[in-house]
Formats: sequence, C-alpha cells, structure tokens
Amino acid sequence: MTDKKLSLKPPRGMRDFYPEDMLLRNSVFDAWRQAAEQHAFEHYDACIVESLDLLKRKGGEEIEEQIYFFKDKSDRDLALRAEMTPTLARMIAARQGALSFPLKWFTIAQCFRYERTTKGRKREHYQLNLDILGEPSVAAEAEVIAAAIRGASLLGLDANDLTVRISSRALLADLLAASGVEQEHHPASFLALDKRGKLPEEKIAELLADSGVPPASIDKVLAITAIQSLDDAISALGHETSACTELLAMFAALDAHGLSDWACFDISVVRGLGYYTGIVFEAFDTDREFRAIFGGGRYDNLLADIGGKPISGVGLGFGDVVISDLLAARNKLQDQSIGNCIAIGFLNVDQRETAIRIATGLREQGRNVDLAVAPQKAKGFFAKASARHYAQAIFIGPDDIASGTVKIKTLADRTEEQAAIDSF
Ligand code: HAM
Repeated sequence: MTDKKLSLKPPRGMRDFYPEDMLLRNSVFDAWRQAAEQHAFEHYDACIVESLDLLKRKGGEEIEEQIYFFKDKSDRDLALRAEMTPTLARMIAARQGALSFPLKWFTIAQCFRYERTTKGRKREHYQLNLDILGEPSVAAEAEVIAAAIRGASLLGLDANDLTVRISSRALLADLLAASGVEQEHHPASFLALDKRGKLPEEKIAELLADSGVPPASIDKVLAITAIQSLDDAISALGHETSACTELLAMFAALDAHGLSDWACFDISVVRGLGYYTGIVFEAFDTDREFRAIFGGGRYDNLLADIGGKPISGVGLGFGDVVISDLLAARNKLQDQSIGNCIAIGFLNVDQRETAIRIATGLREQGRNVDLAVAPQKAKGFFAKASARHYAQAIFIGPDDIASGTVKIKTLADRTEEQAAIDSF
C-alpha cells in the first residue's frame, strides 16, 4: 500500500448499500421476483466475469466502449458483464438440444458499464432480465412487457407514472427502404437514430456520414422520426407491411392484458444495442424527467451469431437505479418497516439466558427477533425498537424473572399482554 490516504468512497460510479439502502433495494428486488414468478419465468443466474470475446461485437454500439476488461493471471482476456443478454445466449446455446422451447427465464443481474455518470446512470447497476426464447409471435413481447409492468405496479406505480413506448426495427427498415436508403446502411441508421434527443442533429448527421451513409440519404434517415402514429407509417409506406401488422397485433395483445393505457407507439424508439431485429420498446416516466426505466426487444440472430442454432428471442432489462429515483420523486417509497420483527432486551446479565430462551422459542415459531447482545436501560431499548419500526418488544427485568412472566408490548398502539416465560 502507498502512503497516499485511501478514499473511503467507492470508486466513481460504483455503489455501497448501507442497511437503509438495502431496504429499498430489497423492495425493488422483491417486486421484480414476485412479478417474474407470477408470470412463470424460471430463475437462472450466471457468472459476472465473462470472456471478452463473447462481449465484443461488430462495433458502433456504445456498450462496447463501456466494457470493463482485464487479463487474468493466465493471460486470458476477461470482462465484467455489461448486460446479461450475451451470457443468456451462451447458456442457451450450450444446452440448446436439451432445453424445451419456448422457455421463459428471468434473473436479477449486476452489470458494469464504464458510463459517464449522470442522473440515472451509474457504473454498476442491477437489472431484472426477462427473456422468452423460441416464440416467434408477439405474444412473447406482450408477456415480457406485462411482467415488467406488473413489477412496476407492485412498487406502487400506475399508467399515470410510466409509459412503454413501442416501435419496430423491421418497420424502420421498411421506412428506410421506402425512402431509398440502402439496406447496408440500416444498422448504422438505427444506431444514429437512437442518439436522437441525446446528441445534436449535426452530430447525428456526422455519425451517419462517418458510417458511410451517402449525403442524400442522411436527411431521409432523420426525416423518419417525424412520423407520429402507426397510421402515418402505413400511409408513408403506401400499404400495411408485415411489420405494421405485427405492431397492430402487439397493441391488441397488450389490450387483452388490460395494458392499453400503459403503452403507445413511438417511432423514435430504436434502442442502442445492435442485436435487435424486430419490435423494440422502452419505458419512460410520463413526464420524461428520467432516463429509460426498462428497455428491450426482439433479437432473431443472437443465438446463431454466437454459435448456437438460429432461434428467436424477446427480452428486456429493467434497471434498479431509475425506478428507485422515480419512486422517490413520486413519493412512492413503500413503508420500509421491518414489519413483524420483535425486539427482546434485558436490564442486566442475570436476565440474558431467559431472553435467549424466549428469542429461540419465537424464532422457532417463525418470528424475526432482534435479541439484544448487551444489557441496557428500558428507555433506550424502547426508543431503538420504535425507531426501527418493530412490531413488538419485550423488555426483561428482575421482577419479570421473579414473577415468571413478561410483558409483550405492541409498539403501534402501546398495548401490552402478559405471557408466561415457559410459554415461548
Ligand atoms: P439496456 O437498455 O442497455 O438493455 O438496459 C436496460 C435497462 O438497464 C435500462 O433501461 C436502465 O434501466 C438500466 N441501465 C442500463 N445501463 C445503466 C446504467 N449505467 N446505470 C443504471 N441503470 C442502467 C439491455 O441491457 C438489454 N440487454 C436488455 C435485454 C434483455 N434485451 C433483451 N433481453
């Protein structure tokens, strides 16, 4: 170690979770898990360290620049995962013959991206991932979106708080083709369009030019975002292409899920990841104050690209950072009380064993018990139990041992009931 004084802060963009922070993180994770299970997604997990080769892609994507990579002691090129999707694809490809499709998997993955740290963007975050592999119909898109919305509603949000904005890269490709932009320029056009609202128009035009898009096509690419509705898109194309039919079916499916109020068409949603091929979507707060809450889409080629057999997938990532900021801004942080916990304290060491016996009996009955580790005064004990929002508290003094009973105090209404020490 050098003489330089160590900073007590985590490295920039990385996060510590003190116990009070864990209450919020756990309530987000609990809602995610419950939503995924209500929709019968199966839980999986994977290593955080991946081979760099799996994560490196053809280029143009921001995420590629953001990878934390290193060499291990045997000179292997490794990286911290920036997202779960390549790892999921690897795991599915490894057992593709043995798995039965369609399959629905979920995980809560810690991801690392060397991002410019701004509001809603850290260098480390957790993501609920919901993916369905092997289902070509839009029922899959509707199901992953419905499960993510379930997670948001379990956290207390409704359609006034959050909107899922939906478009399709296949539709964008139809529109680009109709305006004469060659197919070879479509991937670069998607990535450039994704920068709209994040970069000035001239920068986006520059990006397109740098990717070899001819000057005549650049304005045509930028003009596409003027389209306001699916009807506008159909008129621009002159007929309903299969991408339009798919989007219409998608909105019908969301309606059947009872989610029409939560979703809208938005041509400007393109997504910054290269592997999406069909419907793409992103959820934002209705006031557009925050970054994306969750985002995803259909990817047809990812499995084949990493050496698996071709199979279509749909999925999304739902980060913990923006949702936590939004819940705080909307005053929707749920009561973080420790709920059914009971505190047990004692005045001096003579009552310690009785306290331990009562705590053990209650824990065997399934209660959460905060057993004091040292004697203390009654006043301090009850103050701490109230501050922690415990449900009940028992304080044991010499008189209680003499009478063979203790008082169980309910902290919310300050009522007391008597119980024999032997009864626990
Ligand atoms: P993504 O849009 O890159 O998609 O990330 C999904 C979500 O993760 C974002 O909407 C945001 O909530 C959160 N997120 C991303 N980066 C950060 C960051 N630096 N700090 C805080 N939160 C962040 C994906 O990662 C895709 N792999 C999702 C997917 C799964 N597609 C198919 N399956």
